[in-house]
Amino acid sequence: MSTLPIVVLISGRGSNFKSIAEAKLPHVEIRAVVSNRADAGGLEFARSQGITTAVLEHKNFASREAFDTALMAAIDQYQPKLVVLAGFMRILSPVFVQHYHGRLLNIHPSLLPAFKGLHSHERALEAKVKEHGASVHFVTEELDSGAVIAQARVPVFEDDTPDSLAARVLVQEHRLYPEVISWFAQGRLQLQETQALLDGKPIMF
Ligand code: GAR
Repeated sequence: MSTLPIVVLISGRGSNFKSIAEAKLPHVEIRAVVSNRADAGGLEFARSQGITTAVLEHKNFASREAFDTALMAAIDQYQPKLVVLAGFMRILSPVFVQHYHGRLLNIHPSLLPAFKGLHSHERALEAKVKEHGASVHFVTEELDSGAVIAQARVPVFEDDTPDSLAARVLVQEHRLYPEVISWFAQGRLQLQETQALLDGKPIMF
């Protein structure tokens, strides 16, 4: 099996990136970590592991399109076959999303299609749901709406706060994301038009 070169995009703490790196997935090579913030905590971990880092600060660009064009160039110099959004807190333009069609993954802290967008844990508590979780999906143009590949579920307790719930979900994120990436590396996962396939079979949610 050939090795899958990946680039991971982060904006902050980078615990999902860390879980992917620490999983030491066979046949996955993290070529670089790219952040839109110079102070992203995950960059420190990357450097400590000898993983190449790059910073491209969106505030230095006049428009979303200009930033995304530069971001594509920064990513493409590492020639990834998969781009992994791991807490990358920027909305991406259609040009960017189309460029990486079928090879762009995101993790979102909710059971999609519930609670798209920001503050999913607060909104889950407000809605008094009994179950919450995280989803890994292919990225398409509409925010948090691409084909879901896998989900992890956690219970919601009466005395949960957004932080306690986020922490319970995060443990599952750290398990889920490396697993999905390993499926992709094994050639088991594909996006066919708007449908995710695992081993050639539609993944239904
Ligand atoms: C994670 O919970 C991830 O699911 C979420 O941000 C956190 C990043 O944590 N992503 C989004 O909300 C994307 N819309 P991390 O930097 O420690 O991986």
